[in-house]
Amino acid sequence: MRYPDSFQIEGRKLSPPLVLSPMAGVTDSPFRQVAKKCGGLGLIVTEFISVEGLTRGNLRSHEMMRFKPEERPIAIQIFGYDEVRMRWAAEIAQEAGADFVDINCGCPAKKVVNGGGGSNLLRDLPQLRKILTEVKRAITIPMTVKIRAGWDDKSINCIEVAKLIEDCGGAMVTLHGRTRVQGYRGFADWDLVREIKRNVSIPVSGSGDILTPQDAMRRFDDTGCDAVHIGRGAIANPYIFRQTWETMNGVEPYQPPPREMHELLLEFRDNLREHMPERGVIGRMKMLSAQFLRGVPNGAHIRTAVLRSQTVEEMEPMFEEYFAMAEIYGIDAELQSAPDEQAELAECGV
Ligand SMILES: Cc1cc2nc3c(=O)[nH]c(=O)nc-3n(C[C@H](O)[C@H](O)[C@H](O)COP(=O)(O)O)c2cc1C
Repeated sequence: MRYPDSFQIEGRKLSPPLVLSPMAGVTDSPFRQVAKKCGGLGLIVTEFISVEGLTRGNLRSHEMMRFKPEERPIAIQIFGYDEVRMRWAAEIAQEAGADFVDINCGCPAKKVVNGGGGSNLLRDLPQLRKILTEVKRAITIPMTVKIRAGWDDKSINCIEVAKLIEDCGGAMVTLHGRTRVQGYRGFADWDLVREIKRNVSIPVSGSGDILTPQDAMRRFDDTGCDAVHIGRGAIANPYIFRQTWETMNGVEPYQPPPREMHELLLEFRDNLREHMPERGVIGRMKMLSAQFLRGVPNGAHIRTAVLRSQTVEEMEPMFEEYFAMAEIYGIDAELQSAPDEQAELAECGV
């Protein structure tokens, strides 16, 4: 076969080589469950969790670690600066049953960077080495690391960082090929994924701007990466993993009937209700709807009406209207996968 059918993290085979990328405020358990149900996922990564919160007994941070067995294999992502707290948090993640612990070295949000964590670690390599050494020593499950290209375009150092990660016992490195300063502007530089792949022998995954199965296949072809992470593309279309996997295997990609998508949205609502108070459910339903209810021509008024709703019950007739229109007109994949600035604005949820 032309494309890899799996990748391995310390001898553990994961298939397909498609990963749900960590997204703060998005890849919580309710979302992960529906994404997993749509199929095609080899690995899921949680939203990032603060080691400060975890090690200071913050209930919400601990709740963020909870997952259902069907979400496995799952990596719990942590962020922070202090190596002792990082180690302690990694131990907590292992005890919570994570298959992998993922270290965040990419978040560009000011609040995170000012605390020394996220992409700040790309310009503090002695501290990064300390963290990785401590975490590796403390856990028996594999440690993976997600990075950006560098701090800014004058200090692109992801190849050096990837080598450091390998040297410290990291089991996989994922590159989102933008710099911290770049934020979400422009495009991710996938040439750097290829360069990292040439320079380390641990698995390498790439992240950034995969919105269609063809995007993913092109990245496998161009870089020889072991896996790809998909983030924003999975919000508008959680079936993207299954569709990519099928396209990679020369199979016509599954197009879910609107009725099934409607049920999925309601299942998401039910998952949310198990997980959080109704106020939170309304917010999360609005956020997903703004992305998920795309692809029906002239569907903008429905999204606007959903965003103005005060309760989930008020939204439900809009969902009916949207999916009834989808039955008639179909869902336009190009409209559905168009990048959305709102998701970019919500980066790291802070
Ligand atoms: C709303 C949002 C939240 C994110 N949160 C995280 C996070 O918690 N940890 C992380 O490593 N990356 C985070 N990212 C970055 C994504 O995982 C991914 O690397 C990036 O969005 C590029 O991939 P994409 O174009 O497929 O979305 C976030 C991105 C978005 C849009």
